Amino acid sequence: MKILFIGDIFGNVGRRVLAERLPVLTREHAIDICVGNGENVSGGRGMTKNLFRKLRKYGLDVITGGNHSFSVDDNDYSFMEEPISLRPLNFPPANLGHGSTLFTLEDGRTIGVVNLMGRTFMHESLDCPFRLGLAAINELREQTPIILVDFHAEASSEKAALAHYVDGLASAVIGTHTHVQTADERILPKGTAFITDAGMTGPERSIIGMKPEGVIKKYLLQTYVRYEPSEDGAMINGVIIEVDDESGKALSITRLFERVTLIQN
Ligand SMILES: [Fe+2]
Repeated sequence: MKILFIGDIFGNVGRRVLAERLPVLTREHAIDICVGNGENVSGGRGMTKNLFRKLRKYGLDVITGGNHSFSVDDNDYSFMEEPISLRPLNFPPANLGHGSTLFTLEDGRTIGVVNLMGRTFMHESLDCPFRLGLAAINELREQTPIILVDFHAEASSEKAALAHYVDGLASAVIGTHTHVQTADERILPKGTAFITDAGMTGPERSIIGMKPEGVIKKYLLQTYVRYEPSEDGAMINGVIIEVDDESGKALSITRLFERVTLIQN
């Protein structure tokens, strides 16, 4: 099975990049399933029902989340109940939605997807992503050996630790959240593909998606500054993972990085 994972899709630019490039990439690379992190799709923070529908229309099969999964105020979060919409599994269970799913392709093959969030430098009171993640992976493995994990976390060490912890049980552990693509993609000894961060699909000339001016101002003044999403430059970041259907072990992991010239509209 060939999986395309799209790194954090950020704001208007991220959506436009996806609309233009996802159908082409899917065809060119003979992709079987597209998974993407959508927690930054609404102006850099959160997701709405309307934008969820758009990401689906552009070709994402499963949409994962993170610390911004519920960041839009007064939002209709009914889309979180859909099987293909994930928020971190280790959020308190009282939150809407779920953190893992089984997705069946048209040809009958099935993949399990798990969304977890890190605690280091983030929300330290979350449930343990290691223990909950392992339990979810083992449960999904009763249905399929092909398991993809989106680990939305800040610390590279936490991401690497989780990947090694589930090495041989998950087909891939893909880090998200930092919006900076790392060059450490590899297959771990027991067959799990891993990258610390898949990067961001959005405005390249930015600070993790936002206009630099506001971010610099915040560092200088140490006060609240409202960040504005950048519209400058466009790129798509992600990884393509090839998995053996029988064993669920990764055969390859390849970074995807493209600068995109958007068609004006
Ligand atoms: Fe995030």
